[in-house]
Order: sequence, then structure tokens, then C-alpha cells
Amino acid sequence: MTHYKEKLPAAGPEREALRQKGQFWTPAWVAEAMAAYALGGGAGELFDPAVGEGAFFRAARAIEAETGRQVTLSGREVDPEALAGASRNGLPESDLSRVELADFVLQPPDRKFQAIAANPPYIRHHRLPAEVKARLKALGANLTGRMLDGRAGLHLYFLVRALALLEEGGRLAFIVPADTCEGVFAPSLWDWIARRFHLDAVVTFTPEASPFPGVDINAVILMIRNSRPENRFLWVRCLRPQTPALKAWALSGFQDAGEGHLDIHKRSTDEALSTGLSRPPTQTCPDGPVLGDYVRILRGIATGANEFFFLTVRQAEERGIPGEYLARAIGRTRDLSGDEVTAGDLHALDAAGRPTRLLNLKGIPADRLPAPVQTYLRLGEAEGIPQRALISTRKPWYKMETRPVPPFLFAYLGCRSARFVRNRAGVLPLTGFLCVYPLCQDEDYLERLWQVLCHPQTAANLARVGKSYGSGAIKVEPRALERLPLPEPILKEVGL
Ligand SMILES: C[S@@+](CC[C@H](N)C(=O)[O-])C[C@H]1O[C@@H](n2cnc3c(N)ncnc32)[C@H](O)[C@@H]1O
Repeated sequence: MTHYKEKLPAAGPEREALRQKGQFWTPAWVAEAMAAYALGGGAGELFDPAVGEGAFFRAARAIEAETGRQVTLSGREVDPEALAGASRNGLPESDLSRVELADFVLQPPDRKFQAIAANPPYIRHHRLPAEVKARLKALGANLTGRMLDGRAGLHLYFLVRALALLEEGGRLAFIVPADTCEGVFAPSLWDWIARRFHLDAVVTFTPEASPFPGVDINAVILMIRNSRPENRFLWVRCLRPQTPALKAWALSGFQDAGEGHLDIHKRSTDEALSTGLSRPPTQTCPDGPVLGDYVRILRGIATGANEFFFLTVRQAEERGIPGEYLARAIGRTRDLSGDEVTAGDLHALDAAGRPTRLLNLKGIPADRLPAPVQTYLRLGEAEGIPQRALISTRKPWYKMETRPVPPFLFAYLGCRSARFVRNRAGVLPLTGFLCVYPLCQDEDYLERLWQVLCHPQTAANLARVGKSYGSGAIKVEPRALERLPLPEPILKEVGL
């Protein structure tokens, strides 16, 4: 097999084309483990609904060679180019003869399968044409009896469709991004799955062991059987890249311990579903204290056009915009390196030519603004800024969202892991940050709360509420951050 890493363009139009088609090939060490599970119930056929260059077909042949059991291959694919790649990668025509060039989700096969393995196209909802999205939504409702949230990507519909095509006792192995377990649509989807199917195992990967190195996707393998649900399953964390232990564990019917390579836990499905299947088991009591008991969270200011509203000191001076129409602000998480932002940090950003001044005209009518500001607004108008999506809903168009200065910020997605930041510079954050507003403004209270927010145990709990990415980064939405469990001993220690 051509190695995945060699095939992946890092950026540019080629990478964009991959995104549009959702083409990320599964490496052999993962595909073989998945095929071993799917075929492990004795199936004589493996079906792949998104064949691509045939990673699971090659994996099935490898399992056949190891177990001596004969397997027929069948599948679906929409891209003839990808199938040509499968031939080039050494799959004989006889292996590809049962692959139909058709859409798996919208024109599904008319029979069921004993074994399904897939790496479905990861195409997020905003990349799907509106008409396709509407058909998918109707299909989801039809198959599951409930509406899936509109933010569900194509991979979720692949999963739902494949589960519905699983024979009684049949097995399915899907490798999906963690948002399948963490997204807004997850509770409804998993409620449906958990009531009808038997979850055998979930395999997660540490950032070092990622099956897709260089792609910021936190991948999870789901191993599901069409039989009576049970409240027990195996949750595995794969610790070593390209480890043969994963396949050995699947081939052994989950008997192998994968010593040093796999971290295996028996978990209750109920607990795991409430924690999130992609996350490690929790011992936190579900009624324990959470951040929302102490603070309210709002996202940072969305300007709609940072290049116009968010200026460097120099740009503001050159335009002659008076200081009273500028608020100190911070835009990128990368502009902050520590756990605090101070006046000194802002000076350093100014010196480095980074923007720190937000045009804040508070809805004052244009004819009452100083002449240089009026000139600048006219420039924005000439550039079509008032017609931009978010801005066109504002009146007047240059009116900025208002936020009180938050005492704490939360850097929710950055190259350094997500963290709280003490705002000692009185800055307003833009959308790279969340604003954290304590329910009590007392200075002593703020200091105590800060002790809790910057505690490593609090940081460790972020994984329980955030969406994780392949690199280990975590993104946390405002409502999810309010559900962040706070360590009780630390709260006691600081007297909160
Ligand atoms: C993530 S790739 C996985 C390919 C291969 N099974 C693997 O694991 O390496 C997903 C494949 O699904 C194909 N695909 C996209 N939309 C599809 C659809 N609606 N029906 C069937 N295949 C589709 C893409 O062309 C792509 O080759």
C-alpha cells in the first residue's frame, strides 16, 4: 500500500480537493484491526461503503491469509479516480468487480451485510450542498425516528445508514472523527444506537499514535454488533503508532492484553455515553460542582471583518482615529503565550506591529463622528464591508458587539493547549477567546477563583467537555465550558 503520509498534500488546492471528497486513506495497521473485528463473527463477505483506494479490501485479504477464512469483497464508491488508485495499489479487478459506483447514503444497496468496515468521507455540514443536506436530514429522521442536528456531517449519515444495513448478529467497524461522539448531534445519535445495538469496543488514539499523522483529526474506531444492547463495552486507548498489537487484540477476540501498547478499560455504556465515548472514563460525581456554578461564559467579540475593525496602533495613528473610539483588544490565541495578559504584553504586541485596537464607535451616527473616522468609514463602504454576512445585520453597520471587560479569558483553540488566562490588562477578546464573567466581582473572590482555574486538575477536566483534535488540541464551546467539572478538594482549599 502506498503510505498515507506520502499521499497527503499538506495544503493548497489538492488538499482542498481531498477535503471536498473526504478522501483520507486508512493505514494498514488500523484497517487490518478493523477488518479482523468485522470478519471475526465468521462473515464470508466484507462490505465497504466508501472503498476509496481499497484499504479495507487489502486488509481483508491480509486477514484471510492469516485466518484461512475466504472472504468476498463488495462496496460502494462515488469517485472512479479513487478506484483507479485501488487498482494501481495492486488490487486485482476480481476484487473490485463488486464495487458499485454509486452514492452509499442516498442510493443504498438493497440487501444487508454481515460485516461492514469503513472510513466514511469526513465532509462537514457546511461543505454539503443545501439540497443534499436536506435529503440527509430527512433520511436521518426516517432511519432513526428523530431529527439529527443540522450540524451533523456526512460521516454520521454513513454510520446510520450502515447500521441500518447490518444483518442480525452482523458486525460493523467505522473509523470516524471524535465529533461523532462529542458534537451537538451526539446525544440523540447515541441514544438511538445504544438502544438498538451492542457496542463491543471503542478505540481511541493518543496524539503520538494518531492513524492520520499531520491531519488535525482525533480519530475513533467504533466496533458495533447488531445484537441485544448491553451496558458493558471495552474502551481502548492506543498508545503506540503503527502497533501490531491493535490487530492482534482484534484477532484474538479482545483476549490479548496489548501490554504497553494498548490501554484497555471495561466501561459501563451509560457512564461512557454521558462522559462522551471518545473521552477516558471519569470518576467525577455527576452532581459535583461545575464552572457554570461560579461564572457565565460568552464568546469573544465577532467583528465580521478584523482587517477593517481591528487595527495596529500605527494604523490607528495614520488614520487619525482618536483613542476614545478605540478599545484595547486581543485577537489571536497565538498573541498570548502565558497564563496572564498584562499591559506589558500589549506594549510588546504593539511593538511587534500586531493589532490591539478595536474600532468601537458605539453606534454613534456617522455625521457626529470626527472627520478622520468618517473618512475611514467611507473607505470601508467602498470596500463593501457593510455587505458582509454578519455586518449587514447591524445598524449602523459599524456598530460593534458590546462586552464588559472579562476578568478571565479562555483561549479555546490554540497551538498551546486550551487554558484560562487572567486578564490584568483590561482587554476585550475577539472570537479566538471566550469571556469568563464570575458571578461575584469581589477582588478576593476573583483571586480564589483564579487559583481553581489555573489548577492542573481543572485543566485536565477540559478533555471531558471539549472537542478534541488529532494534535491534542481541545476546542470548548461556551455552554460546554460552563459544564466543566471543578475539582472539589481545590475549591475547598481556596475556600469557594
Ligand atoms: C475517507 S475515504 C476512505 C477510503 C478507504 N475506504 C480508506 O479507508 O482508505 C472515503 C471515500 O468515500 C468516497 N465517498 C464520498 N462520498 C461518498 C458517497 N456518498 N458514497 C460512497 N462513497 C463516497 C470518497 O470518494 C472517498 O474515496
